[in-house]
Amino acid sequence: SKARHHKWDVEYVYWKPDCLEGVVIGINGQFPGPTIRAKAGDTVVVELKNKLTTEGVVIHWHGIRQLGTPWADGTAAISQCAINPGQSFEYRFKVDKPGTYFYHGHYGMQRSAGLYGSLIVDAADGDKEPFKYDGEFNFLLSDWWHQSISAQEVGLSSIPFRWIGEPQSILINGRGQYNCSIAAKYMEGMNTCGKMASPQCRPEVLQVLPNKTYRLRIASSTALASLNLAIGGHNMVVVEADGNHVQPFTVTDMDIYSGESYSVLFTTDQNPSSNYWISIGVRGRLPNTQPAIAILNYRPNTPSKIPSSAPPVTPAWNDYAHSKSFSYKIFALNGSPKPPSVSNRRVSLLNTQTKVNGYTKWAINNISLTLPTTPYLGAIKFGLKNVYDEEKPPEGFPEDYDVMHPPANPNSIQGNKVYKFDFMSTVDVILQNANALSGNVSEIHPWHLHGHDFWVLGYGDGRFTDKDVAKFNLKNPPLRNTVVIFPYGWTALRFVADNPGVWAFHCHIEPHLHMGMGVIFAEGVERVGNIPKDALSCGVDATIMTNGTHHP
Ligand code: C2O
Ligand code: CU
Repeated sequence: SKARHHKWDVEYVYWKPDCLEGVVIGINGQFPGPTIRAKAGDTVVVELKNKLTTEGVVIHWHGIRQLGTPWADGTAAISQCAINPGQSFEYRFKVDKPGTYFYHGHYGMQRSAGLYGSLIVDAADGDKEPFKYDGEFNFLLSDWWHQSISAQEVGLSSIPFRWIGEPQSILINGRGQYNCSIAAKYMEGMNTCGKMASPQCRPEVLQVLPNKTYRLRIASSTALASLNLAIGGHNMVVVEADGNHVQPFTVTDMDIYSGESYSVLFTTDQNPSSNYWISIGVRGRLPNTQPAIAILNYRPNTPSKIPSSAPPVTPAWNDYAHSKSFSYKIFALNGSPKPPSVSNRRVSLLNTQTKVNGYTKWAINNISLTLPTTPYLGAIKFGLKNVYDEEKPPEGFPEDYDVMHPPANPNSIQGNKVYKFDFMSTVDVILQNANALSGNVSEIHPWHLHGHDFWVLGYGDGRFTDKDVAKFNLKNPPLRNTVVIFPYGWTALRFVADNPGVWAFHCHIEPHLHMGMGVIFAEGVERVGNIPKDALSCGVDATIMTNGTHHP
């Protein structure tokens, strides 16, 4: 194993993600940021310089558990202080497991401004993943708005509330085409793109040879959109989810929620004289964004040869039965780690859309998350007082809460309490969905846990009850770091609190997190050693980090 060194300058740059010029947060002048490629067991070192001039920055390594390095998790006000303009910070962490990951900004709404990139971990030398392929491709998916994140943010925190709306474009590896399509020929009323205005928005072309098997890695860093991907005429075999191997299963299309990653294998067994479309459309919300299109190019055809059949059509946005059937097919590959058979504690988290002093928010057990000014990691480790609310947050929600209707009392409070778990205890979390503020609305929320993978024990419709425990899948539940709750449903997950640190657990929809849709978990913080001084040089932590001692 070796160290993979990177030097990054983070700054706003002009870019044309969907052929229209805007500004994005680039890394070393690139958008998306450079791909990090490493082998399991390697140490990744990123020396980051913040050249944003008016904003702090941090980067989260999504799916990397940060075993023993909780200060490198890249969550502002949780694991570290935001890196100030002009300052540098060194991220140094181990990647222990092969898989498809990504990284992104985790301060304000910087992920929505384009601060993301791929992180791919190959098997260690001499190790193999349990499947074979002849070549591979990588898709980092995102969604793009023409409105700046500062304007988006103001809208979300105004009365009346102004929603960001649907994205203008879906991007594949940072490339999309606004208001035109390379598959226009097959789409009613759609403009042709003509000559692509800029190489920055040129569609992805996957060059393949007939009768080979390819691995397509897919990760979604979308701010909002739930996506569905299909390759015209080709089946896909799902083999990896969030850096864990799954029992292979075959699909013709697949859903990908924000925060998830997958690998699929496909075989080029179709008529080789044709090219094929890859189509990625929006699901789970009434779409107002055209599908992103890429080309599967069978060599020696030219990439510009228009496929002879239409692009795959994304399933209806509200066909939740279709979405569920995909999620319910995901199981751990035989031989994967199994969950402990019982848990020590169960926390039920009710997801509601609410109001706080007239502002529209999301709340978990009636608390809408706001972060303290001093990062939790130092505050808990050094036992600082008055940094965050040290009362225990609620373990559940009222028995009589009606999840099928808008909240009877829509008012919540803001807070920053922490769920503290006994080190090495087994924790069950029940994520309970509910009706939003307006009637007959319940949305999909992809929940992402930092610092851990968890087992997905089951899903259900309506309100979770004790009887559902008997139906938990303890035999082959998949290990994930992101899982959805479906409208009006619940999702149960289990993890072992074995990673000392403070970990965010939140909806991966950027505006939802910004509106308070998250909680904070912590375990074994007293075991965290040698936090680099730079990580905590802000707020009350700063005095401790510089004095080395704590005078309460
Ligand atoms: Cu990818 Cu806390 O997020
Ligand atoms: Cu959400």
